[in-house]
Amino acid sequence: MSTASTAPVSAALVGDAPGTDVYSLTLADHVVGQLLRLGSVAGLPAAESALYAHVVLESLGDVPGRSLALPPPSGSFVSDDHTPVEFSLAFRPDAAPGLRVLVEPGCGAGDMADNGRQGLAAIRDMARRWDFSTAQLDRMEDLFLPSSPQGSLALWYALELRPGGVPGVKVYLNPDAAGPQQAAATVREALHRLGHRQAFKALPDTTGYPFLALDLGAWETPRVKVYTAHPHLAAPEAYALNRAQPGPAREDVEAFFHLAAEGCLPTGRGSRSALRLARRPALTCHSFTDTATGRPSGFTLHIPVRDYVSDDEEALARATAALTHFGMDPSVLRRALTALTTRQLSDGVGLIAYLALACERDRSPRITAYLSSEAYSVRPPKH
Ligand code: TRP
Repeated sequence: MSTASTAPVSAALVGDAPGTDVYSLTLADHVVGQLLRLGSVAGLPAAESALYAHVVLESLGDVPGRSLALPPPSGSFVSDDHTPVEFSLAFRPDAAPGLRVLVEPGCGAGDMADNGRQGLAAIRDMARRWDFSTAQLDRMEDLFLPSSPQGSLALWYALELRPGGVPGVKVYLNPDAAGPQQAAATVREALHRLGHRQAFKALPDTTGYPFLALDLGAWETPRVKVYTAHPHLAAPEAYALNRAQPGPAREDVEAFFHLAAEGCLPTGRGSRSALRLARRPALTCHSFTDTATGRPSGFTLHIPVRDYVSDDEEALARATAALTHFGMDPSVLRRALTALTTRQLSDGVGLIAYLALACERDRSPRITAYLSSEAYSVRPPKH
């Protein structure tokens, strides 16, 4: 890779965005415009947003140059309309929200094996650019990137777009790569190789392991994260899935579940039946930092809010209620949605894909909103 290259890969990067005719736009124009506008909402210096946009485009090879009039480059599982990019805003009390971007760098590949190879190459380019080690990822290669990987992803990465121009890098791997029957064994072996010999035993029962994620690069305490899926979950069970110690408060997990999944808190004893998430399942994520205890240090609950609202106005109301309950400023989120799209929030559903409550030892809970790019299509509202 030409690490020194900063040549704009998109017209949007030089402020020369084409007109409003969507068919003259490329995926790069769409995604870069979103990233620059979101960067400004999140308070990132414009030059740093532009650098991050450049890195994202470069990681995607030829794909960003595709016209939006063409179908998506692949059936990417990153987002419902198969845009291979998704944004997220991580809120915390008393601090500006952090902007992140999730990317499937190999989405232009013909098969999952190539997809994984291209993904790995993209991570190695970033490792050279920002001078970090990929040793942990290299140790995972045979487990997660076999010669004919199965499942709906091979390798994704996310960047935490921090001020200063050096992002936090996270790599997402697929525990189903060697087949869904092998997923548990794959996760156990991966944790073992990373020194977390007791960790697998600590995980809750699950129907599946959608992702295993590694923090690479500039992290104070790099984590290994294991995601688990929980169909038909209800609020009390969501709390019971936590294995972190000290874990979150029961009231926090249950309040978040009710606000994200139902839009309000139960009003009194016996006033509501326990709602179960009958559509897309909730996910949890346990993060491991400390190899000695075998205990996770963090617990996150992901609610796929888009499946439980009729439109994005309702999704924003859910997010606003949850952010307000946890002492965070919700106004940034509305501005972020305006940075993503000019459509009315009531004209579609899916712009807010997930809401997540992240609880880490000795820190107040954070809320993350996952925001769709909608480069290709908008799911109609359910009115
Ligand atoms: N699109 C997938 C899903 O909805 C994967 C995914 C993208 C995801 N962003 C996410 C899963 C954020 C959990 C949280 O499941």
